[in-house]
Amino acid sequence: MRRALLLMIVAVTPFVLRADAGADGAAIYKSKCAICHGADGKGKTATGKSLHVRDLGSPEVQKMTNEEMQKVIVDGKEKMPGFKSSLDQESLDAVIAFVRKFGGGDSERAASVINAPTTSISKGFRRTR
Ligand code: HEC
Repeated sequence: MRRALLLMIVAVTPFVLRADAGADGAAIYKSKCAICHGADGKGKTATGKSLHVRDLGSPEVQKMTNEEMQKVIVDGKEKMPGFKSSLDQESLDAVIAFVRKFGGGDSERAASVINAPTTSISKGFRRTR
């Protein structure tokens, strides 16, 4: 009986750890994208303004397919660097899902996640503002 329980814990643990280590789109956005696109995706940062980034929540950007967004993020576009070497597929999916939150007038709520205290977002990013 005890052995069965132990086996069960051993079998389940990797999944629990994996779920925990899953890519956090908000944290990735904050560390790699917010400096240009802004916490609210509107691109009103100094860098964003000088590079003329579009509002990520605007219909023009939101009508891009996930594949089109992924291509821009992986390969870069104009002054935007590509993130081919630093984002794996799981991270790309997570950050694109986060960019989708800027659509539908929900950018303020998305920004509040970005602006939340460091502890509520996973480790591994520097504060950018
Ligand atoms: C150095 C500044 C910079 C960083 C960092 C940056 N971007 Fe961009 N991004 C740009 C610029 C400039 C464009 C617009 C290129 C154009 O349309 O000419 C752009 C375009 C885009 C687009 C396509 C929409 C459009 O306006 O063409 C998406 C989606 C996007 N960025 C997402 C991201 C994501 C996600 C990250 C982080 C992983 C990121 N960007 C990081 C500057 C940046």
